[in-house]
Amino acid sequence: MTGMKPSTDHHMLPGLTRTVTARAGANFALVKYWGKRDPALNLPAVGSISVTLDGLYSRCRVRLDPEAAGDSVRVNGRDDAAAARRAGRILESVRALAASQVPARIESDNNFPTGAGLASSASGFAALVTAVAAAYGVSLAPAQMSELARLGSGSAARSIWGGFVEMLPGVRDDGSDAVARPLADPEHWPLEVVIAITDEAVKTVASTEGMERTRLTSPFYSAWVEHQPAQLDTMRRAIAERDFEQMAAIAEASALTMHGLAMSARPGLIYFNAATVACLHRIRALRAAGVPVCFTVDAGPQVKAICLPEAADRVASELADIPGVLRLTRSGLGPGARLE
Ligand code: PMV
Repeated sequence: MTGMKPSTDHHMLPGLTRTVTARAGANFALVKYWGKRDPALNLPAVGSISVTLDGLYSRCRVRLDPEAAGDSVRVNGRDDAAAARRAGRILESVRALAASQVPARIESDNNFPTGAGLASSASGFAALVTAVAAAYGVSLAPAQMSELARLGSGSAARSIWGGFVEMLPGVRDDGSDAVARPLADPEHWPLEVVIAITDEAVKTVASTEGMERTRLTSPFYSAWVEHQPAQLDTMRRAIAERDFEQMAAIAEASALTMHGLAMSARPGLIYFNAATVACLHRIRALRAAGVPVCFTVDAGPQVKAICLPEAADRVASELADIPGVLRLTRSGLGPGARLE
């Protein structure tokens, strides 16, 4: 990693066998990331803006084990080869900084469904980087944590920070400027999110594959990339001014544009189910009736209704009524990744 320095005060033993635990909240993008300028390093083609949640989170425990034959990664109690491959790149970087060759045993748990469009990779890798760096005794600035988390998943770079967060696409080939930065604390604008779960199954086309298919086959991909800076400018302003109407307009436009773009890939990607669409209509009707709520949807069929706190009970009871909504979960905004 460029610009990263190992801490000068770490020692290889005896601290190596203790277990380090970190926690990070999931995040949802208000202005979406879709498309990579470099798939190998997860460098995004566009910037994005998200909110980090407190109620949906991952906890990651890391123990360095000199006796182990290699690294192991378990997610929700099961060996996970895909997560292990992604984590391997983070471990390599951190071990290089620590001048260590000791393998790590990693266990990560989510308090919400994994891989169903609820940003489990974001919170998972943000927690993992935080725990791994501490376990190897490497002290990193948040921007460096963000750079490492991005190797696990693009959106994970944002979960290093709490509240309102912007991911910069950067221009450098090595990705050292493709990191997230904080825009505002959760207290700046304490929004609430009501999530309508419409399917607990793992999504069919993972975001990485969906993004690549879209980049390679959609006739509208370059328009999406060109349009994004204007969306980011308006969203930054809406957050600074706590302008709900403006935020709602851009968040919904960005989600629908991302899904329209994904649908325009060959073959088209359809992440919505019938209940997803019914929720979007209900949220639009509520806002038209004066309820401060708007929607966003990621690479899965769950609907995230973002609202002012006073509207959350009403929004929850309206969404609970929709056929196909299996259950709801609620969250406020929360802090960035941290050690426990
Ligand atoms: O971080 P990834 O590779 O899982 O991609 C996330 C993509 C979306 O969730 C659909 C959008 C976003 O900005 O989070």
